[in-house]
Amino acid sequence: MCDQSNRDLWFHPLHEAGESGSRRAEPAMRLVLVGPPGVGKGTQAALLCRRYRACHLSTGDLFRAASCETDLSPAMQTALDTMRAGGLVSDDLVMELVRERGACLRCCGGFLLDGVPRTLPQAQALGVLLDELHVTLDGVILYDLPAEEIAARICGRRTCPNCKAVYHETAQPPLKSGVCDRCQTALVQRDDDQPEVVRTRLAAYRDATEPLIDFYRDRGELVAVSAAGTPEEVFQRACEALRKHRSGAPAPPTRRTAVQA
Ligand code: AP5
Repeated sequence: MCDQSNRDLWFHPLHEAGESGSRRAEPAMRLVLVGPPGVGKGTQAALLCRRYRACHLSTGDLFRAASCETDLSPAMQTALDTMRAGGLVSDDLVMELVRERGACLRCCGGFLLDGVPRTLPQAQALGVLLDELHVTLDGVILYDLPAEEIAARICGRRTCPNCKAVYHETAQPPLKSGVCDRCQTALVQRDDDQPEVVRTRLAAYRDATEPLIDFYRDRGELVAVSAAGTPEEVFQRACEALRKHRSGAPAPPTRRTAVQA
């Protein structure tokens, strides 16, 4: 396992999942999560981490964490401005951040990459990096959901600026309205969840990220999962799809989310 200090920028590590010290019941998984903004990747990553006890790297969380720092490099400042406007951060910077976490990618406990890769150049660079590290992916989960349901999820999302917990006003409300269950901090709406920024993010997904679907399908790594239903239902569906994928069962045809910008 990689050491905890190296996990510090990887979110939702084992101790948060409440399973520290318990024996590993599942094989290590090395997974990529792909899907439109707001489909529920972060929510599913938390559940998958608990099941597979893997490290969770969310590039979006890395950038949001950097936005709290005071001494930012010009490259990171540009990245944060781009993110707030709903655009994609440069491939070079994203892959530099991933490369810095090579020890976590080699970790025998596995990993979940959430939000990366998001462009074909990132997917190609990740492939090269994993080859260098002698690591192979167990699957690329593609979450799919109708556009109107995505809009409802983004609209109602509230996050904790302190511990990064994610809630939804109606689907996953906190016990006390507007307050984080874990650390009692006041919940906020993300800057990039404003409607005009969401439109830009959806367009970026359609233009830059959707081509990854064919890329990973052609490599036999795509595991398509409907994101409809409760988080637990989606999670169970993904685990079953992963089990079939790993056993070599033929994949069902992929239905694409009609992402409208
Ligand atoms: P990032 O943080 O990765 O944003 P995203 O991909 O747009 O995804 P979100 O975090 O918005 O949604 P999610 O799918 O995780 O959904 P969630 O679980 O929160 O990236 C942000 C920005 O960083 C990018 O726009 C870009 O600028 C930059 N960036 C990051 N990586 C980059 C890269 N590789 N290259 C270039 N730029 C990069 O769920 C959403 C809501 O729905 C929540 O309220 C949740 O409670 C609720 N919910 C979840 N599941 C369900 C369910 N089953 N039923 C009902 N409600 C549900």
